[in-house]
Amino acid sequence: MTRTPLIAANWKMNPLPEGALEKDSAYRPQSGIETIVFPTFLDMQSCLEAGLPTGAQYGHPDSVGAHTGDVSMTMLKKAGCQFVLCGHSERRRDHREEDSDVVAQAESALRNGLHPVICVGETESERRTKRHKQIVERQVRVLPLREIVTIAYEPVWAIGTGVTPTPEQAQDMHAFIRSLVPDARRETIRILYGGSLTADNALEFFGQPDIDGGLVGGASLKPAVFRAIVLAGVQARS
Ligand code: 13P
Repeated sequence: MTRTPLIAANWKMNPLPEGALEKDSAYRPQSGIETIVFPTFLDMQSCLEAGLPTGAQYGHPDSVGAHTGDVSMTMLKKAGCQFVLCGHSERRRDHREEDSDVVAQAESALRNGLHPVICVGETESERRTKRHKQIVERQVRVLPLREIVTIAYEPVWAIGTGVTPTPEQAQDMHAFIRSLVPDARRETIRILYGGSLTADNALEFFGQPDIDGGLVGGASLKPAVFRAIVLAGVQARS
């Protein structure tokens, strides 16, 4: 089974990287690989107009209503957005999102014709006390895995720290996550790795059989580095 690799740039609460909207932008899809950018809500429209495959970093599950500061999945779809992140660990932490909220977001995204990229991953203490698989299983089992979704495994302790699991440890978790996916979707679902990916380590991660690309934070803000990570994705599957 060959799954097309996917490399996604999560720009978090940062301005657009330089040249992101140009014709020769590092964020344009290359042949043999898919890319997505996740800008802030304010930069979404210009990314869409520039023709970049664009997602939102969050969407509220309700279509409309009294939710100050939020934007709904319905509105994102109407704006032309194609993808949405659900349950990023920074949202779970900063906005107290629980598994049930993440499921509601993913289901709303699907109802609205958006492709959810759903984040899971254990904390440092959960890994240290060897509960990482138990935690990730809890996060994964509730997801709508019979639908077309993407999972991103992002160990919380690897995000923005420069510390990563070994590619073998990441592969072990990815294979475990895949084993939790119903038969009909098991071989086609894409499972991305995220957490301190760089141009130097990307190829080792993407070379693992169950790692189908990456969700890149800090390194995605540097166009040349992101370009190198995308090339690693192409190279890993060639
Ligand atoms: P870093 O690549 O900065 O570690 O962030 C990963 C991440 O959170 C992507 O969603």
